Amino acid sequence: MNNTISDFLLNRRSVSAKDLIEPGPTKEQLDTILRAAHRVPDHGKIGPWRFVIFQGEARERFGAVLCECFSEQNPEASSKLLAFEQNRFLRAPLVIAVVSSPVSHAKVPEWEQVLSAGAACQNILLAAHSLGFGAQWLTEWYAFDKGVAKHLRLTSDEKIAGFIYIGSYKEKPDERIRPDLNERIQHYHE
Ligand SMILES: Cc1cc2nc3c(=O)[nH]c(=O)nc-3n(C[C@H](O)[C@H](O)[C@H](O)COP(=O)(O)O)c2cc1C
Repeated sequence: MNNTISDFLLNRRSVSAKDLIEPGPTKEQLDTILRAAHRVPDHGKIGPWRFVIFQGEARERFGAVLCECFSEQNPEASSKLLAFEQNRFLRAPLVIAVVSSPVSHAKVPEWEQVLSAGAACQNILLAAHSLGFGAQWLTEWYAFDKGVAKHLRLTSDEKIAGFIYIGSYKEKPDERIRPDLNERIQHYHE
């Protein structure tokens, strides 16, 4: 039996956004990543997600938005903190915002549509890793900020499922402590 894919899944590890470097994915590689994200299980063929791509100078321009929204919530923020916000998206060559975009549907509850957007995030991670890139799924404060949501033109039904940071990296991080699997498995025998 060929275990290449299961080995890949069992060894997957996020690479911290701060450790991501140039180069990022090419146009073709980005296309592969997005197509992988777009073919997740999706009850009712709704496609309840959308993607916002941040690359190049757009990352700095979005940094200015983060700075503004951060200042609004933290009027006393130091210039050091504001500089961090300005440069936040420069941590990686590519950031993909996955927007959970559920619709009202007679048969498919919102919960299922939200899960599908989460699956899109995971497929982005897996596609990026399979192409040799490091990636990390983050939400941080700005996934939940009203000003950021307004700037990204999220509707009242939409939420940020994650910002996926993608780039090259030097060293694969060591394995981390994981929750105990056995504690989370139950064989049903009523
Ligand atoms: C929805 C979601 C949001 C997350 N947001 C953050 C975050 O804001 N900050 C953070 O350090 N890790 C966050 N993580 C965790 C990382 O994506 C990652 O799982 C963690 O660094 C552990 O690495 P691993 O993927 O190799 O287990 C989030 C994970 C998920 C699923």
